[in-house]
Amino acid sequence: MNQDKIIQQTKQWVQSKLDNESSGHDWHHIQRVTTQAVEIAQVEGGNQFIIILAALLHDLIDDKVVESEEEGIKEVTNWLVDQGVPKKEQETIYSIITTISFKGGNNDPVTSLEAQIVQDADRLDAIGAIGIARTFMYAGNKGHLMHDPEAHYRESMTVEEYRQSPSSAIGHFYEKLLKLKELMNTNEGRRRAEERHQYMQQFLSQFYDEWGNEVPF
Ligand code: ADP
Ligand code: NI
Repeated sequence: MNQDKIIQQTKQWVQSKLDNESSGHDWHHIQRVTTQAVEIAQVEGGNQFIIILAALLHDLIDDKVVESEEEGIKEVTNWLVDQGVPKKEQETIYSIITTISFKGGNNDPVTSLEAQIVQDADRLDAIGAIGIARTFMYAGNKGHLMHDPEAHYRESMTVEEYRQSPSSAIGHFYEKLLKLKELMNTNEGRRRAEERHQYMQQFLSQFYDEWGNEVPF
């Protein structure tokens, strides 16, 4: 097995599949996640080949990207077989991308170091300046409000309270983005999340200042 060749070919394959992707899982997202994952692995350890392939492939089973999750899993599995990736590595990669892709935040924690690192890298790309940008892109795409001042978002908001308010970009910070720092798996991931988290808090504070109060008449 020529690992470098497999990585290069997988890179090209993923890039070609995500060329016209606009759901927030474009090729540049994959590139950022893969780079972060490799950098975290330089501190935390882990099998680089597995980490790189899992990071490159992690969004190809998302039903926003492919027709269905099953279809995505089939394509990725066939790809790894065709590249001559040994069965054991195939299974590890498969298990990483299926566990980290589940939505909702109520999943069992991932166990292997490689999975922890790829998940941390994916989460880092959801916070900080990039995370803010992706959130407003997503909200715009869905026709959501930028902010709903009636919603009175608080970090202590219950799930029910949140669900009752209409979805907005600012609301998504409380639903997901501000929680990610505490969910990081590795020390290096947590360290990297800290600065991005503070930046989002600063952004929100400035945002509310500029938003101001009701018109005075
Ligand atoms: P991932 O697959 O990386 O967990 P998602 O598919 O949930 O990401 O979302 C892609 C991007 O869109 C992320 O940056 C995410 O924070 C953002 N996003 C997801 N849901 C919402 C939402 N309801 N409002 C605003 N942004 C969202
Ligand atoms: Ni992703």
